[in-house]
Amino acid sequence: MKVIATYNIKGGVGKTATAVNIAYLAASDGYRVLLWDLDPQAAASFLFRVRPKVKGGGKALIAGRRPVDDAIKATDFDNLDLLPADFTYRNLDLHLDSERKSATRLRSLLVPLRREYDLVILDCPPSISLLSENVLHATDLLLVPLIPTTLSVRTLEQLTEFISGFDGKQPQVLAFFSMLDRRKRLHREIADELPVKRDDVAAVAIPALSAIERMSLQRAPVTAASPRSQAARYYRDLWQEARTRSRLDQIAIRAS
Ligand SMILES: Nc1ncnc2c1ncn2[C@@H]1O[C@H](COP(=O)(O)OP(=O)(O)OP(=O)(O)O)[C@@H](O)[C@H]1O
Ligand SMILES: [Mg+2]
Repeated sequence: MKVIATYNIKGGVGKTATAVNIAYLAASDGYRVLLWDLDPQAAASFLFRVRPKVKGGGKALIAGRRPVDDAIKATDFDNLDLLPADFTYRNLDLHLDSERKSATRLRSLLVPLRREYDLVILDCPPSISLLSENVLHATDLLLVPLIPTTLSVRTLEQLTEFISGFDGKQPQVLAFFSMLDRRKRLHREIADELPVKRDDVAAVAIPALSAIERMSLQRAPVTAASPRSQAARYYRDLWQEARTRSRLDQIAIRAS
């Protein structure tokens, strides 16, 4: 089982849009996928039409009083399950903090899922917190959407520096440009130059496309609703890159 997280300290950069599309594409390739919506805003749960409610809330899950299995819901798509968010997730930091080994609690919670899933995708809220630290410790591949600006490049450097200070396992980082607007010179320059300079920046960038914005109206990943669209093509390229980098291509597909 591999774990991929979409993460950025910044909000509104395309984390959820990426998580739902990668989850759908992986599931349609036959991987058994669980998408865990860790954001109290519950946007991923909304997009998959799953009610954002976890019995006992985030506290019971983190404390292990409620097995993670119990809170998992099916989606409308084969091989794709969802662990919905809940508004109580706004306090996940507090609940994590009261655990022993508070930075690796999430990783422990994922262990029993190894038999059931090939891939767990974590959709994170925008923050840098104990929850994000947990995500970094639990993840094999961190997908970091970046808006092409000089400040976002700095954010990436800060993130990779933070991760390089970890003892033991460190997640691999794959940043990619999101909401790229090629009409803007600065966007073009940054998006063309950085992937050449840095191996942890993907060659594929996701442009700003209205089909992606419309996902919240259709309440479905664009890769499922409009598989022939330009948007779907870009997400498929990103999924291929993520699949290779996370070594998921070496996992035999067991789903039927
Ligand atoms: N490439 C894109 N082109 C156009 N719109 C996009 C693109 N990616 C995301 N959006 C839209 O921008 C908004 C924010 O995207 P999204 O929810 O994926 O960001 P996020 O990083 O998860 O935000 P948050 O930090 O609030 O969780 C959404 O309305 C989404 O549909
Ligand atoms: Mg989000």
